[in-house]
Amino acid sequence: MADMFSLDGKIAVVIGGAGSIGGAVALGLAQQGAKVSIASRNLERLEASKKKIQEETGAEVALFQVDMNDEQSVIHLAEQVLSEFNTVDILINAHGANTKSPAEEFTAEKWDALFDLNVRGIMFACREFGKIMIKNKKGKIVILSSVRGSRATLWGGNLGYCSSKGAVDMFTKALASEWAQYNINVNAVAPSLVAKPETWATRTPEQIEKYLANIPLKRVADPKETAGIFAFLASPASDFITGQVIYLDGGLSAVA
Ligand SMILES: NC(=O)c1ccc[n+]([C@@H]2O[C@H](COP(=O)([O-])OP(=O)(O)OC[C@H]3O[C@@H](n4cnc5c(N)ncnc54)[C@H](OP(=O)(O)O)[C@@H]3O)[C@@H](O)[C@H]2O)c1
Repeated sequence: MADMFSLDGKIAVVIGGAGSIGGAVALGLAQQGAKVSIASRNLERLEASKKKIQEETGAEVALFQVDMNDEQSVIHLAEQVLSEFNTVDILINAHGANTKSPAEEFTAEKWDALFDLNVRGIMFACREFGKIMIKNKKGKIVILSSVRGSRATLWGGNLGYCSSKGAVDMFTKALASEWAQYNINVNAVAPSLVAKPETWATRTPEQIEKYLANIPLKRVADPKETAGIFAFLASPASDFITGQVIYLDGGLSAVA
């Protein structure tokens, strides 16, 4: 039973692996035995994430610079990982952002930049790392979506974000269906608000009330709480799960 959750020796790439969620996920995969590479733009943040993972697990961590808005940069990332490790078993897309704008003021530039990062960048990464997984006839892809891919907010500004995450949810299902023939599992994780306790403590009572209104567990997730579901979806324990959007939302999607 314990082996079903092991990632021993698996080659994993976490894009956005210096982010709040991506960093926790990369650490979780390393704790389960994976050889983890983390990638994003800012080298200093990558170095800090690498140091934390190495200190906590003793595992070696590789880091690569990538700009997910740039197709060539993503292609280069896959080439670098292949040249260093010869293969890839697990791809985590944990990068992303929210560009808020009132719907009536959304510019083409803002809209395109958001979709380039949150949707197109994921397509590039899956395409490039997927080529390796197709050759291997196996692979695990986990994509960070959001509960906002299927539930809008009661407050404004999130038209672009919600739309991009809705696209991510459907991307996950379509890719899972297309690549099932290659034994590649594709799933998404959809959190509600994730915040470090120190960040959450700076919120006003009004903000807290707003965010927790429709969360049955009446709290937000700590980034550390995101790692488990990613490790599960990367492990043999989830071999028959594909095309799913798993809600990590304190019950929000059960009631809203
Ligand atoms: N936090 C939440 O409450 C929450 C809830 C639901 C869903 N999500 C989703 O989770 C994802 C990450 O959230 P987070 O809270 O972990 O945010 P975060 O701490 O800001 O991390 C975002 C990560 O994405 C990377 N990134 C941004 N632009 C990039 C680019 N052009 N190329 C490569 N990497 C890029 C960042 O690294 P660099 O800046 O160094 O490139 C960073 O590692 C987002 O998709 C978000 O929508 C978050």
